[in-house]
Amino acid sequence: MTDTFVPQNIIVTGGCGFIGSNFVHYVVNNHPDTHVTVLDALTYAGNIENIAGLPADRVKFVHGNICDAELLDRLVPGHDAIVHYAAESHNDNSIANPEPFLKTNVEGTYRLLEVARKYDVRYHHISTDEVYGDLALDDPHRFTEETPYHPSSPYSSTKASSDLLVRAWHRTFGVRATISNCSNNYGPYQHVEKFIPRQITNILEGIRPKLYGDGLNVRDWIHTDDHSSAVWTILTKGRIGETYLIGADGERNNITVLRDILEVMGEPADAFDWVKDRPGHDRRYAIDSTKLQTELGWHPEHTNFQEGLEQTIKWYSDNRAWWEPVKAATEEKYKQQGQ
Ligand code: NAD
Ligand code: TYD
Repeated sequence: MTDTFVPQNIIVTGGCGFIGSNFVHYVVNNHPDTHVTVLDALTYAGNIENIAGLPADRVKFVHGNICDAELLDRLVPGHDAIVHYAAESHNDNSIANPEPFLKTNVEGTYRLLEVARKYDVRYHHISTDEVYGDLALDDPHRFTEETPYHPSSPYSSTKASSDLLVRAWHRTFGVRATISNCSNNYGPYQHVEKFIPRQITNILEGIRPKLYGDGLNVRDWIHTDDHSSAVWTILTKGRIGETYLIGADGERNNITVLRDILEVMGEPADAFDWVKDRPGHDRRYAIDSTKLQTELGWHPEHTNFQEGLEQTIKWYSDNRAWWEPVKAATEEKYKQQGQ
């Protein structure tokens, strides 16, 4: 293990989105010596409320785009690390309109790498297990750092592209970079377009939940707080140039997750609609996080999925004002797609 690096001033891109904002809360609550500058364009997926109430002497907000090279050139000096969460993150949107994914996920990453290179700033890249494609339901293997890239969707192919840029900028230009590829996150502040919050808020609104295809696709769920602690571990202890997979042994198929939600919310097990499948729908993701656990000593803490799901359902029930303004438009978009 390398010496611990404790960053004093980090830039968190996408810090007003789901996982980025949870990471900002995590840093504020657990690492008192670190100051955070959130850089976020506040797209449809970003919400300034996600970081409201955090102490102003610890967290600064800059409204801007990661593709804006001049802004990055002004912003980055004085910071010792960039943690890059900002992305177009939803597979269904990437199928409807891939272009913003190319712009933000590929060009945006390129801009950040160039500025990290210019000012020799430590760079951590947040990515997804979806770069590895999918596994058959009966495949005994899980993804490891050695699994070849095989992305399926416009979203995952742009994330794969961004990962490859990071590897090249590390090898060719010596950028002090690490990469993490995490499995599906759940928890508070997740946009209602995503599977778990969509179904919870549908039930709260009296709309029937929607299940794609045969409902047997498997996702490997991790609580977003465990993702945050893993990223902090890699940022501070990770070996430069390395990739670490983040997962918490949370494989579940979609129909099981939906039935759990229905049960907790007091609905009958069949109170949902089957809708048409996502084109190119990945069958199964599964992460082997042995490298992160053995090399860096990280372990997930929130491994009781049922408990985490109940807390998440409570959060959406208690925070209707957070999601209600975007719910109708999100459902309208899905309706037009037949989903
Ligand atoms: P999100 O869509 O909830 O948030 C994305 C944030 O990025 C928003 O605040 C948005 O305003 C901001 N943003 C988008 N384009 C921008 C731009 N050009 N410039 C500046 N800011 C911009 O996404 P999320 O689900 O929190 O995902 C965050 C990261 O984690 C992404 O890189 C994603 O690929 C990765 N990831 C997500 C998951 C998951 O389960 N959601 C799993 C593994 C990895
Ligand atoms: P999603 O939250 O979009 O994450 P990802 O595509 O990154 O895995 O979807 C999770 C799973 O849930 C995926 O298999 C698609 C499925 N799904 C549904 O069955 N119904 C829905 O309404 C949504 C949004 C997703």
